[in-house]
Amino acid sequence: MKQVNLGFLGCGNIGGGVYRLLQEMQEELLRRDSIKVSVTRILVKDIDEALQINAAKGLDVPRALLTEHVEDITSDPTISIVCEFMGGEQPAASFMEQALAAGKHVVTANKVALALNWARLQRTAEEQHVGLWYEASVGGVIPIIRVLNVNLESDQIDRVFGIINGTTNYILTRMASEGKDYAEVLADAQRLGLAEPNPATDVEGMDAAYKLSILASLAFHGRVTYDKVYREGITAISAADIAFGKEMGYTLKLLGIAKKQGNTVETRVHPTFLPKDHPLANVDGSLNAIFVHGKYCRDMMLQGRGAGDMPTASAICGDIVEAALSDKVHYPTFDNTDTPAPDFVFTDDWITRAYIRLSAVDAPGVLARVSESFAAEQVSIASMIQKEAEEGARVPMIMITHPAPEQAIRRALARLAEDECTVEQMIRVED
Ligand code: HSE
Repeated sequence: MKQVNLGFLGCGNIGGGVYRLLQEMQEELLRRDSIKVSVTRILVKDIDEALQINAAKGLDVPRALLTEHVEDITSDPTISIVCEFMGGEQPAASFMEQALAAGKHVVTANKVALALNWARLQRTAEEQHVGLWYEASVGGVIPIIRVLNVNLESDQIDRVFGIINGTTNYILTRMASEGKDYAEVLADAQRLGLAEPNPATDVEGMDAAYKLSILASLAFHGRVTYDKVYREGITAISAADIAFGKEMGYTLKLLGIAKKQGNTVETRVHPTFLPKDHPLANVDGSLNAIFVHGKYCRDMMLQGRGAGDMPTASAICGDIVEAALSDKVHYPTFDNTDTPAPDFVFTDDWITRAYIRLSAVDAPGVLARVSESFAAEQVSIASMIQKEAEEGARVPMIMITHPAPEQAIRRALARLAEDECTVEQMIRVED
């Protein structure tokens, strides 16, 4: 039997979930893997406050385990694995670095700290021959990190895309099923505890962009830094756009999309219309799902719970057990640099189809001039609907283009004469 002592940095929802799961599974882990996993120290900001919060959650953590000093964990020679549950970039990243430098394995679900400090953390881990484990940082319990880092390491992945933020998927699903506007559904999601009081990281796409930078780096074997991910959130999406898209056979999702062709890489997070029978179109509520395409594996899709304390705890405990049992650590084999991979050419001129909603004056020749603007940039319109105006009002004109370069679509929209036609919305469409 091997005794494995853990130090926790933080003990919020996810940390509490891991604590609970380890308690429940302790005998099983002893029987299955001959390891006795014990949490021996937990870093909190304020011990009295932490005791109150834990009591309110029904989590029985002895006061003796709690400390307000990170050194009580990083300098404790009996602790071999440090699990980080603080969230946010700092001080989580520097605490993880301290733990790695002290020769401890680190397990984290913190995509922000990882995406922004990955190279340094991995370098420190390699120097100390310890592991940096982060399966739960993307897609919650979906084992996408291992799939890319281990299972598909010998493949040539050219596409990874999917729903990697549960909060926005929940909001868009409810907007679609109830016909409600963004603000109303967000307020309700906040009331139910399904969206953060400050939802910016989720609804403005940052959370998905951090995750996509990690996935794309692993998939393409080169560093895709966060700043190379184009990002649009869901805050400007209206119930009308979702309804028009539905009328045209599409469902709206916030997707993270990473593609590589030769050395050209595109990484983008934005609302995306998908044909309603696309497998991702039917991944609803707070579920996540990720598609991978590779030269040899072809198409595959993984789906599951991307958030929530216990699903995330399940993925984290998988990392803990692997860290406890591994003699040799597997690091990503690409050059994990602070800066973008020098041989990647990052483009913002990807090929896409676009849904465009215009507000146009209802007069002879307007539609012809709109068509001329698109024709001038070689953008072909695939389908279109125009609603009749109430007397004197402008009309919504909705079109979906054939595939075209992103920048050509933008140039076509810039050509429209503002006095007769304004661009109200542009949403990319994937097949
Ligand atoms: N806030 C994330 C989401 C979960 O809504 O998917 C943690 O990554």
